[in-house]
Amino acid sequence: MKFGFFDDNEKEYVITTPKTPLPWINYLGCDNFFSLYSNTCGGYTFYKDAKLLRLTRYRYNNIPTDTGGKYFYINDNGTIWNPGWQPTKTELDSYECRHGLGYSRITSSKNKLKACVTAFVPLEDNCEINQVLLTNDSTDTKTFSLFSYVEFCLWNAVDDMTNFQRNLSIGEVEVDGSEIYHKTEYRERRNHYAIFAANQKADGFDTSRDAFLGAYNATDDPAVVNSKCSANSIASGWSPIGSHHFNITLKPGESKSLIFVLGYIENKEEDKWESLNIINKKPAKAMLSRYSSDEQVTVALNNLKDHWNQLLSKYVVSCKDDKLCRMVNIWNQYQCIVTFNMSRSASYYESGTGRGMGFRDSCQDLLGFVHLIPDRARERIIDIASTQFEDGSAYHQYQPLTKKGNLDIGSGFNDDPLWLIACVSAYIRETGDLSILGETVPFDNDESKTASLLEHLRRSFDYTLTHLGPHKLPLIGRADWNDCLNLNCFSKEPGESFQTTGPSEGPIAESVFIAGMFVKYGKEYATICHELNDFEEEVRALAAVESMNKAVLESGWDGQWFLRAYDANSNKVGSHECTEGKIFIEPQGFCVLAGIGVEEGLAKKALDSVKEHLDTKYGIMLLQPAYSKYYLNLGEISSYPPGYKENAGIFCHNNPWVSIAESVIGRGDRAFEIYQKTCPAYLEDISEIHRTEPYVYSQMIAGADAVFHGEAKNSWLTGTAAWTFVNVSQYILGIQPDYKGLVINPCVPSGFGDFTITREFRNAIYYISIKNEHNTQKGISKLIVDDKEMFSNLIPFEKGKTTYYVTAIME
Ligand code: BGC
Ligand code: NOJ
Repeated sequence: MKFGFFDDNEKEYVITTPKTPLPWINYLGCDNFFSLYSNTCGGYTFYKDAKLLRLTRYRYNNIPTDTGGKYFYINDNGTIWNPGWQPTKTELDSYECRHGLGYSRITSSKNKLKACVTAFVPLEDNCEINQVLLTNDSTDTKTFSLFSYVEFCLWNAVDDMTNFQRNLSIGEVEVDGSEIYHKTEYRERRNHYAIFAANQKADGFDTSRDAFLGAYNATDDPAVVNSKCSANSIASGWSPIGSHHFNITLKPGESKSLIFVLGYIENKEEDKWESLNIINKKPAKAMLSRYSSDEQVTVALNNLKDHWNQLLSKYVVSCKDDKLCRMVNIWNQYQCIVTFNMSRSASYYESGTGRGMGFRDSCQDLLGFVHLIPDRARERIIDIASTQFEDGSAYHQYQPLTKKGNLDIGSGFNDDPLWLIACVSAYIRETGDLSILGETVPFDNDESKTASLLEHLRRSFDYTLTHLGPHKLPLIGRADWNDCLNLNCFSKEPGESFQTTGPSEGPIAESVFIAGMFVKYGKEYATICHELNDFEEEVRALAAVESMNKAVLESGWDGQWFLRAYDANSNKVGSHECTEGKIFIEPQGFCVLAGIGVEEGLAKKALDSVKEHLDTKYGIMLLQPAYSKYYLNLGEISSYPPGYKENAGIFCHNNPWVSIAESVIGRGDRAFEIYQKTCPAYLEDISEIHRTEPYVYSQMIAGADAVFHGEAKNSWLTGTAAWTFVNVSQYILGIQPDYKGLVINPCVPSGFGDFTITREFRNAIYYISIKNEHNTQKGISKLIVDDKEMFSNLIPFEKGKTTYYVTAIME
């Protein structure tokens, strides 16, 4: 069953009922100011950091669900309704929500009054605009009331939810005409405030939640909306809100537009003289003046659309599979940008108060983002590398605002260092910019301890080499990519967190997955050294890679598939000898994509085993058989019920590894089958089973052992976005950025037909036409660039050349 449809021309997903299985959300904002925005107007807003600088409140785990948002209420002759349906849930006569790139538009009607709310964050300012267009579609004059409503958060979202003895006395507001200033904390910091304003003179306002809702009322029944009369309340302490009231009369056919702006103002250093509690309103008023007319709002929205269109023009495929085109050209890249911006901080599954930026997560997010805005990727790389320690290990997370490593979590995830090589090499392949390697980057953000980025990479590489276990495989530490595989956690006390520091960091447990990573990214490191003419280091790196390859073949092969790990007692994990968890997905995908066992025929065997033991119609499960009980020697992984999350869920993130691995051995049909199974556009028809948004990937789909097999969770913020984009753009469609240019190496299913790709690469445009008359699955036999035949599958990059016309023949 579907709950909407794709409008590819507008690059929108159109939701046709507010009653989607779960809130289906969008992200507004590109740079610093962001809002989460659901199809019923739920969500919240923050500036830079969802924990520390949150403008509006949101109650996770609330009932009814998703009832915090920026709401508009209409009281039309006693019928009270919201254009987004929530929170009154009055049945609407029509409803449509269009989630577009960086904006959402909800249009609905009740009793022949139409409301169209367009919400977006303009490129140039730290604010969210809500334009409300009301139209009287009846034949009679209508007189009705419109109320706006936002509930302010007292900035630090954790304190806001916990420190009530203080919170209930600190709220302060100021009202100046239709401008409502939220100035809690200004007294103490004098550096920031929020504003919620309307572009026309309001007939009333409220800033006290209690006055607006009425004692003991919820947002579905606000007293002020019922009485059609604002209380003109000035909040002092308790819960400050912002609400405007407009009495509106519309003749038949007449429309009226109102513009609401929710903004964030941070005073410049020189403005801080404004002492005590007197805010400097000038910057707010200047911002409001930029969005005070419909024309200005239209221009700002068009600028935003141009921005997105320009970004998404960097990789455009045209082929006969519409679903593939819409994912590649629109939604997958869009999600890559959102995950790059948010890391794992704020979604409907991440509270915005816990995890900041993940070291591993951000490195991987970059893989799907670097072709879009390479300069931002460059900055991000430096931020990430700055959290590395001198021994090559790294803080597992860092705070977006301070960019400092998170001490509570610390380090010890032994895959982390290698992801730095992954993202730096992706950046250099994309841009050709080797100069990044010479950047001076601190360790642990300490400016007295610095080294070049290249040296950081060397320490990443050496960290693995200096942390090998009894089988010469990498030590896993607290965990590797699989956060829940805590093989050293046998000292955990009941109730204690799984990822504790200290004694849990055992010296023995080893990871075959990290070995695969080392082979893959060790080769990348060697290539980087080669590019820098450091042949000695290149040779050293390749020798270490070769030894690791050998160690995997000797101690990491289980007979039919790659072993997953050795636990702290050197017992096998992910072996046919185990009673549960006999086979895991991660090493099959990663070892093969790294090239391990390809020549020996093991790769094919491992991938066949994946198909035989882990495949389902909804994707490949993480392991089988699921753990039916908790194992002390395995940790959090076995704490999940069978079929969920790391315990045999379909972790969408590592499905593309297997798809890539299939393309490494040339099986286009299977690579594509895997791609399709978790790809949201192909799941749209079963939205009642899948339940999350059909336009973005979710982290997990419940596996075959789960009660609700096929149900997805954790949409949006997942490394799946980047990895599926890498898979489809580089391995299936086969356009691979390389140090010396673009390599064309597709691997497609039979019947895929001819296709074209427009790719922007290093300031040049490549028009690539791939012909596949003979239904070949892998590789090209002929490459013609600007009428010249090449004798490899590389289109050499020529400095200064701006257009390349390319024909590639698969045969
Ligand atoms: C989840 C993992 C996640 C980790 C983050 C675990 O509970 O299952 O997917 O990476 O928490 O700390
Ligand atoms: C989600 C985390 O964000 C990611 O870093 C991790 O690799 C996966 N879960 C698997 O545990």
